[in-house]
Amino acid sequence: MRPVSEPDAPSDEQRTLDDDDDPWAPEPTEVVDPFSPGFFFGDRFRIDAPLGTGAMGAVYRATDLRTQQPVALKVLLQNKQDGEGRQRFAREAQILSDLDHPGVVGIRGFGHAKSVPWLAMELVEGETLGQRIRRAGKLEPSVLTPILRDLCSALGVAHAAGITHRDLKPDHVMLPKTDTDRSLVKLIDFGLSRASTSGKLTRTGTVLGTPRYMAPEQISSAANASARSDVYALGVIVFEALTGDSPFAASDQGQLLGAILQGRTDSLQKHRPDLPHELDDVIQCAMATRPEDRYGTPRELYDAFVAASGTQGAPRFSTPAPPPPGSFTPARPQAAPSAMTPSAGAFTPTGLANGPATPGRVLVFALLGVGVLLLGAVVGYLLSR
Ligand SMILES: Nc1ncnc2c1ncn2[C@@H]1O[C@H](COP(=O)(O)OP(=O)(O)OP(=O)(O)O)[C@@H](O)[C@H]1O
Ligand SMILES: [Mg+2]
Repeated sequence: MRPVSEPDAPSDEQRTLDDDDDPWAPEPTEVVDPFSPGFFFGDRFRIDAPLGTGAMGAVYRATDLRTQQPVALKVLLQNKQDGEGRQRFAREAQILSDLDHPGVVGIRGFGHAKSVPWLAMELVEGETLGQRIRRAGKLEPSVLTPILRDLCSALGVAHAAGITHRDLKPDHVMLPKTDTDRSLVKLIDFGLSRASTSGKLTRTGTVLGTPRYMAPEQISSAANASARSDVYALGVIVFEALTGDSPFAASDQGQLLGAILQGRTDSLQKHRPDLPHELDDVIQCAMATRPEDRYGTPRELYDAFVAASGTQGAPRFSTPAPPPPGSFTPARPQAAPSAMTPSAGAFTPTGLANGPATPGRVLVFALLGVGVLLLGAVVGYLLSR
């Protein structure tokens, strides 16, 4: 593992399998100086501990001194503070505030301190799915099912809002320790995400994303990435979760890219002969080389996974737990309908105009009725004179 604090360490975007002796090595977790615990940042945050570092930013556990609440504070790495780095950081903040959903990490604020961009997020206590897989070795379908359900739900909501993640991987799926019964996952790192309305954010020739999870069309050009590229990444994630291994037998980046582009993947049966062979078909379909041959939505993948694995589908899609009063209110209740929008029985937005009758509504209708009757009586009296 190569700590990113090393001078000129390659970013995740540029990391090759050559760089890692072990392609299964965990994400770098060392955090660059100068933010050590006790450091005050931007007159607003006290740094408490490092949480991790990626290609773009360093993430710290911090205390927001305005609210005294703990947050996850992401600051843009010094060597990424060019126009594009700043733009992507701002875009991540915008997307997080647009995607107010229990399966997506919440945003608490965004700004600059001495020209260093920062992003304060809900602090997720727990581990990433990547850490979980590395810890457990592999997951059983029954364990993966509810995780996949909430992952597909959150991703489906993002897609319905016109947002593709484009960097989906186990290390960007957090598993909160405290089960609020609202979502078992929190999607993080929308730094490479793209809204359908947004412009191009890719330097020509730059590989964006993490190669092992990238769909063939995304490798060819980041501009080609679509919601189905996220479905491809989901297929890789499911394979890795079930086997603890990569679907690609590649020892360097050239081999890896060749295997992805030509659709050369290991079969699930080779790693897990104990699992139903139908699961192999699910992964093959999710990871089909041509986007049009894949599942159209994360929900379709999830349904196929449940059917093939023989696990009891977890019920959150069809019978969602009602949100606690005063909590989740989607920022975009008008998002285009999809398999996981409220019409299909997923998370139900609160406060929509056509909600069920309440005592308040009944009173309003009764008063209106009385008003109409009175008006009729007055008009009748005037006409009769
Ligand atoms: N809200 C959060 N709560 C707790 N830990 C977090 C949170 N956000 C990020 N982390 C931790 O910090 C790590 C890096 O976060 P993130 O992937 O967002 O950074 P990045 O710099 O954008 O990474 P990348 O290299 O993928 O671009 C994560 O893998 C996770 O361990
Ligand atoms: Mg990351």
